Amino acid sequence: MAGEFGNPEIVEEEVDILIIGGGMGACGAAYEIGPWLDQAKKQGYDLKVKLVDKAAMDRSGAVAQGLSAINTYLGENDPADYARMVSNDLMGITRDDLAYDLGRHVDDSVHLFEEWGLPIWKQPGDEGKNLVDGGKPVRSGKWQIMINGESYKWIVAEAAKKALGTDRIQERVFIVKLVNDKTDKNRIAGAIGFSVREHKVFVYKFKACLLVAGGCVNIFRPRSVGEGTGRAWYPVWNAGSTYAMAAEAGAELTMMENRFVPARFKDGYGPVGAWFLLFKAKATNAFGEVYMDTNKELLNDYPPYGQAAVPASCLRNHLMMKEMREGRGPIYMDTVSALGKLAETMTPKEIKHLEAEAWEDFLDMCIGQAGVWAGENIEPEKKNSELMPTEPYLLGSHSGCCGIWVSGPTDIGAPTSEDHADAGKIPSHLPSGWNWGYRSMTTIKGLFTAADGVGASGHKFSSGSHAEGRLAAKAMVKFCMDHKDHKPELADSVADLVDAIYRPVRNFLENKDYSTAIDVNPHYITPKMLQFRLQKLMDEYVAGVSTMYQTNAKMLEVADMKLEMLKEDALKMRAKDLHELLRAWENYHRILTAEAHMKHIQFREESRYPGFYYRMDYNFVDEKNWKCFVNSVYDKESKTWNCFKRAHVDIVDKAKLFK
Ligand code: ADX
Repeated sequence: MAGEFGNPEIVEEEVDILIIGGGMGACGAAYEIGPWLDQAKKQGYDLKVKLVDKAAMDRSGAVAQGLSAINTYLGENDPADYARMVSNDLMGITRDDLAYDLGRHVDDSVHLFEEWGLPIWKQPGDEGKNLVDGGKPVRSGKWQIMINGESYKWIVAEAAKKALGTDRIQERVFIVKLVNDKTDKNRIAGAIGFSVREHKVFVYKFKACLLVAGGCVNIFRPRSVGEGTGRAWYPVWNAGSTYAMAAEAGAELTMMENRFVPARFKDGYGPVGAWFLLFKAKATNAFGEVYMDTNKELLNDYPPYGQAAVPASCLRNHLMMKEMREGRGPIYMDTVSALGKLAETMTPKEIKHLEAEAWEDFLDMCIGQAGVWAGENIEPEKKNSELMPTEPYLLGSHSGCCGIWVSGPTDIGAPTSEDHADAGKIPSHLPSGWNWGYRSMTTIKGLFTAADGVGASGHKFSSGSHAEGRLAAKAMVKFCMDHKDHKPELADSVADLVDAIYRPVRNFLENKDYSTAIDVNPHYITPKMLQFRLQKLMDEYVAGVSTMYQTNAKMLEVADMKLEMLKEDALKMRAKDLHELLRAWENYHRILTAEAHMKHIQFREESRYPGFYYRMDYNFVDEKNWKCFVNSVYDKESKTWNCFKRAHVDIVDKAKLFK
């Protein structure tokens, strides 16, 4: 039966492994899974795999627009130092086991990217020599390397599609719910979603699933409104699907209070990393004063983190925000002095090349910023550009660490690490509760995640997300082989699930004739308007830009009440077409993610991330009581959150950071 609007065709399929998403994590899994499937086949098991992406893999996910740098490439560096850096930038509360594991695997992904055709900048004399052959990259910092990366995602997606085969890939299908197993609610058995192009609902049953649908953008009122709407730093299509669907399935989340507030070039959200690290530019207040120097003493308020050689991203924001609060804005990136200084020792031809690099930094990943420069007659060598802290984003792969609590590697600290600098310091066991057999599996059996999905381990960036997808692919095949005889059965009926998914369509069809203006109707609310309401309340009560990232217990109480009202009204969302149905379900995912964020901030009675958010009633870092993970489990029956503490352990010694 061909479906029609409001009466979709139901397509049911049983596979062994479903990959939900098409970003760097999913591409890593799609590439890696082949050899492990072959091994399973040799043992007589022909495992079926499917990948579903709500968009098209060539340009989906956070790397869609391209990038000008790969922010995690270890090269000569020690994975233990990488774990230290991750911990330091996230104020001490990260999983060393996950970071270390990522650090020792990430370079393989970068080498593959280069093999597949991604141009990676090389030191003079090493041009044309690949990294694996000893080619020295142009580093923009200790961990970052420069690339010509406008087509980065195309290149990575092409390899993923070729490896998996297009017959195992379904694009334009938006998965909106995971379904638990009928006999074990701590196991995952299926997922359901709809095509955004055809009137079809897809129901998948599986043994294991990789949920890699990115982080969460647009739960806070963005700085770009009106004609700028849709301009954001992280991709606006990342709607919290990973966190919301995992939470509804009962998976334990971690550090959902964490957020990232990047300081970016104002309005275009252009990247700052290359300017700070490669061009050695300084950020100043309106009077040319370098706030990282003039406000240095503020770092003493945050021991031991304030004493680190490189202050954490949130602390750098904290020093900037003092200037803004006290009226010494705007803040500028001093591009003029930086380029001037570099040019002192250059020939005119080299200077032209340097200016081209400055433009390319934007053109590779953020064309809008180059548009701002062109539109405002900014020549970076002649005129400085404004910087601004953005609205908050929730993510686990960049400089944030919210996400899902996953099983770590089994061997960290085992004898294999004896040959490295930290031998003896790494205990030969993991803290209990950090490993339950399958790398990257959540607390729900068969449900795996990677990239933005994995919490408490930020600074993976694009390459690390790919590597983490590869780690998860291997673990999922093992899981399937260990549970060969398991037959997944859905806990919910397909008819009930379809009914719930299509509620916004019914709201529309049943009430559309009540008024003559399609968007004005007392019986429904458009997804766009509902999103405005969510953004307004998060902005005003949960430490958005309008309060300069400040909140307190009383404001959070109001947020709690308003979120309840919003959830009630959300049942009245309408969908006049498939596009609005997508928007409606993105909103459901955003609301649950926003609620998790709010509940965690409410629970953590300190300000762990000054410069990202402040609990003004606990405006300090409380090492004694809060150097711990805050984790939570959502109960979809009672619609309640249970937040709790989990002990933090440093597996890698951190003393080296604070010398
Ligand atoms: S990007 O994703 O938009 O390119 P960004 O411009 O922040 O991100 O650059 C990211 C990398 O540079 C991260 O590894 C970040 O920690 C690092 N970085 C950015 N600014 C600084 C700084 N001022 N000091 C140290 N590291 C920085």
